[in-house]
Amino acid sequence: MISKLFSKIIHLSPGFRRVIWKWWYQKLAKKHGEKNWRFMNYGYAPLNGYSPIELLSDEDEEDRYFIQLYHHAAQSAKPDGKKVLEVGSGRGGGSYYVASYLNPAQMTGLDYSDNAVDLANQFFNENNLKYIQGDAESMPFESESFDAVINVESSHCYGSMESFVSEVNRVLKPGGIFSWVDLRGADDVEALETVFENSGLTVVKEEVITENVLKALDGITERKEKAISQFVPGFIRSAFSDFAAVKGSRVYNGFTNGRLVYLSKVFQKP
Ligand SMILES: C[S@@+](CC[C@H](N)C(=O)[O-])C[C@H]1O[C@@H](n2cnc3c(N)ncnc32)[C@H](O)[C@@H]1O
Repeated sequence: MISKLFSKIIHLSPGFRRVIWKWWYQKLAKKHGEKNWRFMNYGYAPLNGYSPIELLSDEDEEDRYFIQLYHHAAQSAKPDGKKVLEVGSGRGGGSYYVASYLNPAQMTGLDYSDNAVDLANQFFNENNLKYIQGDAESMPFESESFDAVINVESSHCYGSMESFVSEVNRVLKPGGIFSWVDLRGADDVEALETVFENSGLTVVKEEVITENVLKALDGITERKEKAISQFVPGFIRSAFSDFAAVKGSRVYNGFTNGRLVYLSKVFQKP
């Protein structure tokens, strides 16, 4: 029952979906403060077997698949020396990766869960990195204040994709880059494309990366299953497995049967 609920959440009415996700991420961050849980995405694996990232610290190596999804999104935004914003930064691992490996002048992570923001600020203290609380649909920033915006597996939670994209357009400097990755129901892709077409941003690159995400999920499932059996009470385990998209879950199967797709797009503000 709860499990079915999770797999349907992305199809809920926008306002309800927003409230449910906020409640969920607040609760997760409050209940689970473990520092070795720094990412909440499905990961990315190159199909040719060669990782674009050669060297990671031992601690970061554990999170290679999650980091590869960030690397995939962030390298298109050319963060070197730039002022970069991540919207939906969660527990902070992705903004930390960009700040400490990809040399931005300044990295800001924004998330509407203040519990997640508190955790991220406890976990990471790089000089060029900060996390703040705020809403993707009404961002607490001046217009034209960032060179690049990245958004990783967060936008499916938003009430209005139009508001989010319009905010991205507002906070980006002219010429700035927006790099976006997320999952969608196959039936929702057409409406999403219309939002992007009307955004005023120019498409630079687009890719379907479902196979890369599935390959990463295959590699991460064992670790996720261990964590779920260690930390999650029995009655909610099946819902959590869906949320985590472990092998055989509804979300994983959605990717294999084509009902869900994982998309990657890069835009530039004219
Ligand atoms: C699946 S998690 C991904 C987190 C992170 N990007 C990662 O890959 O580890 C989605 C994140 O989006 C955040 N989020 C959802 N709706 C938001 C909104 N309207 N504004 C800002 N953050 C939001 C959630 O709090 C959560 O941290």
